[in-house]
Amino acid sequence: MIPELSNPSVLMRDPQRVEEILQTMLQCGSNTLQVISDFDMTLTRFAFNGKRCPTCHNILDNSSIITSDCKEKLAKLLGTYYPIEIDCSRSIEEKLPLMVEWWTKAHELLVQQKIKKDLLAMTVRESEAKLRDGFQVFFDHLHEHNVPLLIFSAGIGDILEEVIRQAGVFHPNVKVFSNYMDFDEDGVLKAFKGELIHIYNKREGALLNTGHFQDLRTRPNVLLLGDSLGDLAMADGVQDMENILKIGFLNDKVDERKQSYLNAYDVVLVKDETLEVPNALIHYLTANK
Ligand code: TMP
Ligand code: MG
Repeated sequence: MIPELSNPSVLMRDPQRVEEILQTMLQCGSNTLQVISDFDMTLTRFAFNGKRCPTCHNILDNSSIITSDCKEKLAKLLGTYYPIEIDCSRSIEEKLPLMVEWWTKAHELLVQQKIKKDLLAMTVRESEAKLRDGFQVFFDHLHEHNVPLLIFSAGIGDILEEVIRQAGVFHPNVKVFSNYMDFDEDGVLKAFKGELIHIYNKREGALLNTGHFQDLRTRPNVLLLGDSLGDLAMADGVQDMENILKIGFLNDKVDERKQSYLNAYDVVLVKDETLEVPNALIHYLTANK
């Protein structure tokens, strides 16, 4: 039905079920569709030429606006908590408080750095941030077909917005839920705004934003893209959901995590650095009936 679903990177627990969901969603029409996507390691690349690509946080961590002492501390946090994030031998309940600890400590360190708002654009420009191949088609096609795209990220909203703005794809159909920086009157970072979004509380984040989902209540069909099991909760705020197709990027620790990803996601993309498969699905779902 969709040739890209036969790509070697694609794994599916139940291919027939995937086909059924896609057919039903196609029947309903693209005016009933919304896309909800995670950002770091979902819309951005995990690795390039064998080297890890930065998350929103890492863009700051690696930049010249952070002192070397702070860089060292942030790198230590990453070294401690990232292995916990991807450890499938621990339950989400066990990992949750540790993730809160990671985000809280990282944000405290960033606030101590007195980061200036007007340096963020340069920081992103000089970073190695990389959207996945096919990002242009992904964003442009959704925009052209008036399909709303919610980017739901536990990263940093100001950085994320700058990445997609500089890539020329921050179209009006894009809405972002994320952690936003709060600056004082001199444009110096003083805190992060609102409730913290970390990797395992996207459900709470979704429920805080009922207005957005209320506006989209005529779009009960959801295409969800994520790279962590926490991303599955991003659609928990969707009103009267009828169909959902979940696409999961499995970037790291493939053998250990393959089964849990297959159980949770309808389509699993193993070490696939491109948006080729999501784009093929979006083209299919937005084709004229
Ligand atoms: P996401 O929800 O957009 O994927 O963003 C969360 C990612 O950010 C998650 O994979 C962990 C990562 N992260 C860092 O790289 N450095 C940090 O300091 C923190 C708190 C998170
Ligand atoms: Mg992610």
